Amino acid sequence: MHNSDEISTHLSFNGLATLYRISQLLSSGGSIEKIMEGVLDILETHAGMKRGMISILNPDNSELAVDIARGISESGKQRGRYRLGEGITGKVFATGRPIAIPKLKNEPTFLDKTGARKNLKDSDLAFLCVPVKAADDVVGTLSVDKVSVQDAVTLEGELQFLQAVAGLIAQVVVARRKQQELITALERENLELRKNLEEKGKPDLMVGNSGSMREVYRQIAQVAPSGTTVLIRGETGTGKELVAQAIHQKSPFSAGPFVPVNCAALPESLLESELFGHEKGSFTGALAKRIGRFESANNGTLFLDEVGEMSLSSQGRLLRAIQEKEIQRVGGSTAIHVNVRLICATNRDLETDVAEGRFREDLYYRINVFTVHLPPLRERGADVLLLADYFIKKYASMNNKQIERISTPAIDMLSSYHWPGNVRELENVMERAVLVSTENVINGHDLPPTLRIKEADLQGTRKDTFEAMVASYERELIVDALKDARGNQTKAAQILGTTKRIIQYKIQRLNIDYRKLRGSA
Ligand SMILES: Nc1ncnc2c1ncn2[C@@H]1O[C@H](COP(=O)(O)OP(=O)(O)OP(=O)(O)O)[C@@H](O)[C@H]1O
Ligand SMILES: [Mg+2]
Repeated sequence: MHNSDEISTHLSFNGLATLYRISQLLSSGGSIEKIMEGVLDILETHAGMKRGMISILNPDNSELAVDIARGISESGKQRGRYRLGEGITGKVFATGRPIAIPKLKNEPTFLDKTGARKNLKDSDLAFLCVPVKAADDVVGTLSVDKVSVQDAVTLEGELQFLQAVAGLIAQVVVARRKQQELITALERENLELRKNLEEKGKPDLMVGNSGSMREVYRQIAQVAPSGTTVLIRGETGTGKELVAQAIHQKSPFSAGPFVPVNCAALPESLLESELFGHEKGSFTGALAKRIGRFESANNGTLFLDEVGEMSLSSQGRLLRAIQEKEIQRVGGSTAIHVNVRLICATNRDLETDVAEGRFREDLYYRINVFTVHLPPLRERGADVLLLADYFIKKYASMNNKQIERISTPAIDMLSSYHWPGNVRELENVMERAVLVSTENVINGHDLPPTLRIKEADLQGTRKDTFEAMVASYERELIVDALKDARGNQTKAAQILGTTKRIIQYKIQRLNIDYRKLRGSA
């Protein structure tokens, strides 16, 4: 053996400078494949080492995780996949010891599977292969060709140089693995948290599994435990009041009352006395003292529905009450302390109302702390059918009726209607259908004319309406799961409680580009 100083003097290139370049590259970040290609580039340009190959094992199985080759064609690379234990590379994998072969043509175990050397004179080439080791584990190999002009001392020196390179590579591989393990653990945790949130947030009385509704459930779970003011937005009939009740029930205020006030239902003068109460004789007709809703909601939740309909003067009073946590009864002078959780709802475009001076900007910021947006029913995919089914059960049992199914034409009508009145409209439609149905089936003619007008249009397309809808729902579920799983099909299959094979089949059939979903969670 020679000591390394002595050996490095025998190198035909500057070993230290090359190692330095490589270490710089290794700390530069980027994909591991790119980095390894860079290493092979440097070895080629600065150390005269050609046709380099780096193979790194996947820690989870015995497949190659990284398999980079220089100067070898793609098909050569395919052929070059050495089974571990086969050939020289395999031997290095198995023994963890470097191998140098001064002249390839003298070596019977050299397989040249890649075919890269078939045009070269065999006698010109030396082959060097060193293990990439993490602690005592062989995690990969690094191999190169050299033009075989060296004496044994030079060859030994180059082998040592390559081992130093392999040592640097090993450090990067180990660091990347640790990082990957951490990311995987975090992802798993994140996934569980999201699932937990969804389950925690799902109100018992709310039906729907669409991605947009699951987002709503997560938001409910997030905001309910705090005392934060919530603004619930969404078209009419989308379930804003249900969400407000759910937040109350899942909040620390749940032992207190839930007090709803519809701000649109009362004229300005009455609304103020409704909210804040009044003293006896404070206005004509105020025959007795009255406790307002703010006071009765003490230690509970005050739900201000249609908050966008309040007059500017009532808005001012409301703002003071929120800021000071105190109210004064109309006609009264004492301040009464109140402790309430405030939830507001609106289907108005409050931003426009603010811009046009109909809604106070300062109040807008006070109530718009955490927003839950309820999607319109037409954007909830097959939730329409889940809800239809739910309402049939509800009204059938209320009316002692036996309804077994919805006919296909009726399903198509329900699916293709645009539901301007959202869930409330659907609920009314189903209640009526249950009442008027004479068989134990909901038929097309049990649905109101607004839906039936479409019956003629549906002829011929009826088959794909339902199927297209189910497909679109399926697609949404799978895309959601893939997003959660960052494009990982196995994980997505776990989330959906199915097998990878089925997921793969559906991805293909529904033409989902799962690669695009990587990292989009
Ligand atoms: N996801 C759902 N699952 C079951 N029932 C629902 C769902 N969403 C809404 N509903 C029902 O639909 C009806 C309308 O809901 P809600 O009153 O909460 O809507 P809203 O958004 O407050 O409507 P508006 O803006 O008109 O006040 C209620 O009977 C409610 O129980
Ligand atoms: Mg409402």
